[in-house]
Amino acid sequence: MAIERTLTIIKPDAVKAGHVGDIIKIFEASRLKIVAARLVSLSKKEAEGFYAVHRGKGFFESLTTFMSSGPAIPMVLEGENAIASLREVMGATNPANAAPGTIRKLYASSIESNCVHGSDAPETAAFEIGYFFPGVDLV
Ligand code: CMP
Repeated sequence: MAIERTLTIIKPDAVKAGHVGDIIKIFEASRLKIVAARLVSLSKKEAEGFYAVHRGKGFFESLTTFMSSGPAIPMVLEGENAIASLREVMGATNPANAAPGTIRKLYASSIESNCVHGSDAPETAAFEIGYFFPGVDLV
């Protein structure tokens, strides 16, 4: 299996609720190694730029308001099959549909306030890593 890098964001709801340590523990237990991290307070414009692919959808306005509502922690994670592994440990977008033991099942409160983001493909990982960490190369 290939060593990949992927982008996660610990979202404002999870930072506010004090779940940063719990979530990092799950990443590390899943052999997802943190290779870059920042604490950011996104402006509305920065949140809109990150989620540009969702512009025009019904939830775009609310999502970008939520993502700019407080501190968040974007991180680059590295590991075997990291993109798929991260998505597995995050669980389904809607916590109501997330598998037991996943981050969203454990800590998320709604489809919007769902604690974590994870890149869904190598192309999106490249864009998203570059968005927050312009100096970090994909391996
Ligand atoms: P994320 O994995 O960051 O990708 C896009 C985000 O939009 C998603 O997590 C949710 O936070 C949010 N989202 C997706 N679908 C909906 C929806 N139907 N209603 C509200 N928010 C949504």
